[in-house]
Amino acid sequence: MCGIIGYIGKENPIDILINGLKNLEYRGYDSAGIALKNENEIEIIKSVGKIVNLEEKIKNQELISANIGIAHTRWATHGKPSVENAHPHRVGNITLVHNGIIENAEELREKLKKENVVFEGETDTETLTALINKYYKNDPIEAISNALKEVKGSYALGILFENSNDLYAVRKDSPLIIGIGEKENFIASDIAAIIDYTNKYILLEEGEIAKINKDKVEVTKDKKVVDKQIQVTKLERDAKDKCGYDHYMLKEIMEEPVVLEKTFEPYLDNLEKLPDLTKYEEIHIVACGSAMYAGMIGKTLLEEYANTKVEIDVASEYRYKNIIYDRKTLVILISQSGETADTIAAMRKAKEHKVDTLAIVNVKTSTIARDSDAQIFIEAGPEIAVATTKAYILQVGIMALLAYKTALTKDLVKEEHKVLEEAKKLPRMIKEVLDRREEYKKIAKEIYKSEDVFFIGRKIDYATSQEGSLKIKEISYIHSEAYQAGELKHGTISLIDDGIPVFAIITDDTIKDKTVSNIEEVKSRGAKTIIISNETWDNQKLQVVVPKISPYFQPILIVPTLQLIAYETAKLRGCDIDKPKNLAKSVTVE
Ligand code: AGP
Repeated sequence: MCGIIGYIGKENPIDILINGLKNLEYRGYDSAGIALKNENEIEIIKSVGKIVNLEEKIKNQELISANIGIAHTRWATHGKPSVENAHPHRVGNITLVHNGIIENAEELREKLKKENVVFEGETDTETLTALINKYYKNDPIEAISNALKEVKGSYALGILFENSNDLYAVRKDSPLIIGIGEKENFIASDIAAIIDYTNKYILLEEGEIAKINKDKVEVTKDKKVVDKQIQVTKLERDAKDKCGYDHYMLKEIMEEPVVLEKTFEPYLDNLEKLPDLTKYEEIHIVACGSAMYAGMIGKTLLEEYANTKVEIDVASEYRYKNIIYDRKTLVILISQSGETADTIAAMRKAKEHKVDTLAIVNVKTSTIARDSDAQIFIEAGPEIAVATTKAYILQVGIMALLAYKTALTKDLVKEEHKVLEEAKKLPRMIKEVLDRREEYKKIAKEIYKSEDVFFIGRKIDYATSQEGSLKIKEISYIHSEAYQAGELKHGTISLIDDGIPVFAIITDDTIKDKTVSNIEEVKSRGAKTIIISNETWDNQKLQVVVPKISPYFQPILIVPTLQLIAYETAKLRGCDIDKPKNLAKSVTVE
């Protein structure tokens, strides 16, 4: 997703802005730009591709000496990646960077064209810039307010005005914070962009406009000053350090034991701190991508062991469906970033229907964390790699504890599951699984040249296989699909041919024989089968065996093997593991 950073203060902004953009690279982008301003002039430099291209351009030209700047990484939505479409945009007296989507941009653009506005690019952002320029006489806040009255959509804006030595910021639906420094202040899409300079920040709320200079931040809403509390982030500077690992993704996978222990800690001796799901007649789980697959595991555990019916849907569907809220319902929203547009929309839909919302979320300052009725925070810390790993594991962990608490409340717990004892052992067990890197490298060597990889499983193993398949797709760019093992023969088996890798996830004893026969079906058609399970299989060349543990936590021992197999496969293919092409860490637009 797009990234914004702005600076006003005692230093020349260039290095701060470029460093900030690099700290935002993980959000995904395809062009970048910077605007510098002093009392008399504004200068804009933009480039397509990686930030190093922008640095090259900056190095090769004489620049104005400035004390204010805004910068942006763009993830193309309206209009292809190009210099003209890159931000900052300048129209008349306004220079602006934007994260979000202006949904009525076309209509506004046509109206402005009729007022003889000439557009250089094709973006919704340029239209917004022209609209603010239309209303700008000599009062920036007036111009911003009047323009935004006509705008539909989402935005986080950093704005510079000719004849003003202040930096302005405003947001709706897209995240934006104001960093507080000593004789300098910042704006940023998230704290990671400015953590090298300050850990103090102000959260800008919707409808608030910030007027910022090096000594003061004044926030107003409807022309009235709003008192804002300065917060301090716990994000450590080393969060951006790979700590010797080749990739953030590998570092974050290796953090899984520690962050799981930290996430479980408040609850293992005090399950009362978890919400009571039995108060509700209906449970909906709504999320996107990997978070959705974590929800699928939660659904299976709640239904299998807590006898609790769960509806689950991807947020991009849920937000538009006719959902019948005719019973006391809880909507559980799962989101690492807490800024996924579709999941936010699903949350707002539930709240409009006066339905309780529970967020399982990582970023505590995010929109979903702030606007949901209740929250369970996972303690993943910052996840820099675009492909989620540790956050996904923690989402599954929290769903498992919720299912266990619900089963306890309903007096349905099977003694042999020993859930809390095993929860305490889990971090060490994950560590042991993670340390077996050579096994995963061996399997990666068997599959990295393939064009298609399939995953099969039944019940909870099917939910687990979904995440394994997504990891392969998103970081190694190999086409992959996950199928209910019993479904393969209803069509897709026609694709199984000599040497095509088929992963079978087998941990659920109640149904394993069925999956074994599905493996035989694909083997007889030449597939290269890889079994990921909690028991050893005779005559099976490619297999990974993890310790058997209660079904509540079994996926948490299986998935790290799939994450590392995907990682090693992507490495063999020379892929950009931390920043896969076309992907964004937080999809803050529809
Ligand atoms: C990241 O690996 C996933 N590919 C992506 O699907 C992600 O899980 C999804 O975009 C939801 O993000 P969120 O958890 O921040 O809401």
